[in-house]
Amino acid sequence: MQITINQSGTSSLDALIVPIAQQTDLDAIFSLVAEKTNVPVELIKNDFKAAAREIHTLYFTENQQSKRIYLLGLGESPRTIDVLNAFRSFVFKRKANLPANLGISFLYRNAPENPTTWVEASVNGLLLGRYDIGLYKTGKKPEDAATNFNLEVAVSKEHLASATEAMKRGEAFAGTHAEIFNLVNAPANKKTPQMLANWVVKSGKQYNYSVEVFNEEQIHEMGLHALISVNRGSENPPTFIVMEYKPADGKVLHKIGLVGKGVTFDTGGLSIKPSTNMHYMKSDMGGAAAVFGTIEMVAKLQLPMHVIGVVPATENSVDSLSTKPGDVIGSYQGKTIEVIDTDAEGRLILADGLTYAVRRFAPDVLIDLATLTGSCIRTLGTYAGGLFSNNDELVGKLSTAGERTGERLWRLPIWDDYKKELKSDVADLKNFSGNPAAGAITAAKFLEEFIEKHPAWAHMDIAGMAVADSEFSSQKSATGFGIRMLIDYMQGLIDEAKP
Ligand code: BES
Ligand code: MN
Ligand code: ZN
Repeated sequence: MQITINQSGTSSLDALIVPIAQQTDLDAIFSLVAEKTNVPVELIKNDFKAAAREIHTLYFTENQQSKRIYLLGLGESPRTIDVLNAFRSFVFKRKANLPANLGISFLYRNAPENPTTWVEASVNGLLLGRYDIGLYKTGKKPEDAATNFNLEVAVSKEHLASATEAMKRGEAFAGTHAEIFNLVNAPANKKTPQMLANWVVKSGKQYNYSVEVFNEEQIHEMGLHALISVNRGSENPPTFIVMEYKPADGKVLHKIGLVGKGVTFDTGGLSIKPSTNMHYMKSDMGGAAAVFGTIEMVAKLQLPMHVIGVVPATENSVDSLSTKPGDVIGSYQGKTIEVIDTDAEGRLILADGLTYAVRRFAPDVLIDLATLTGSCIRTLGTYAGGLFSNNDELVGKLSTAGERTGERLWRLPIWDDYKKELKSDVADLKNFSGNPAAGAITAAKFLEEFIEKHPAWAHMDIAGMAVADSEFSSQKSATGFGIRMLIDYMQGLIDEAKP
């Protein structure tokens, strides 16, 4: 597959996609399309309303060759994410008979002045549209994935340079997203903690960042007691994965620490979950996946940041050795924890991950992502991740990045009033209050106990966002939530530092 950018859209194309936002006056665009195809303007107008993901195909002949124009609806005032989804949906629907030489024209534009973000989103979407969730189906032919096409993106001359950069970014994101989708969609027996670590080691070699994987014995020696306690019921040993990216030229703007929940399957442990929908608990490593994808992208884009990723990875399983409700465990930080509910395991492993990240790396900013609570889903639905932070400026920046990328975050409070819910009679604190009210907040308060008073910490509860219903699968499937938002956040920091 090859992607190029030019000013015109060459005549060797078999088909041209024309993305169109829905607005009152589309006549100018339709006239241009009518001129090219010889289809009367009234017919085009009648049959195409530019609704989100609407596709209208026009056939015509040029130089004795049969050609197509696809009008692709983007809906009203499309955001970047809407453009991405329109293109993804287009390829997904058409991949069986997609022509080999495909163009996207940003020349017939009713688009924003600078098409750069749309170029990135369209390339990202087009490539992701070929994503095939049928990882374990037998008898697949390689061409099923419609891998062989050339893509030409046409923009006006003044945007050539910026569009070329955007195109490369879109392509890079699509590659990483597809990898992350595969990880999140993989069933637990195909992604043990060791297999997660193997994925990261491979990515680190490919994109030049360092990876350390601590094994069970080392995890014991290091004293990651909370991680060990969650792993007790599992046949598969835990791993503790530490990633570190530094720019080659050593010019570092910020040091950012990312911690991700890597529960490869959450049965609930002895506080076992009901079986309906338990299969989705294979995606309980969605926070880890966001950290993996973000670091891979930072490395691909060679951002001037020092970025650290810490992922405690384990299953939460049932066994006679499993931690029992009421057990008191230790933690890397030193505090003792009464485990009231073994299904509140995410906060336990994150506690160790957070303290480790702060003590070893002292990052300027500390961000954790986790599919942490059903409570967060009941609060915000599947429309936004919960955002908890002790730093208003950080909240502002992350919220803006979320809004810009369509990976939304909404802040919830972490007032100290909630702290009393975590008081234990026998240990320093307990992992669950027993009170289902404000569960996402009390979980965040628990984490706060382990950040060593870090002044710029943000916790993102992405339980409702890591997988979603989509037109691409019958079951909920991976979204890669967090990666584009975090990269946008870092890009914002870089732009801010420019003179
Ligand atoms: N992994 C779950 C949270 C979750 C639920 C993620 C649904 C995605 C979809 C987490 O480990 C969990 O079980 N949380 C419990 C906490 C409770 C026992 C305090 C919950 O939310 O019910
Ligand atoms: Mn759980
Ligand atoms: Zn969990």
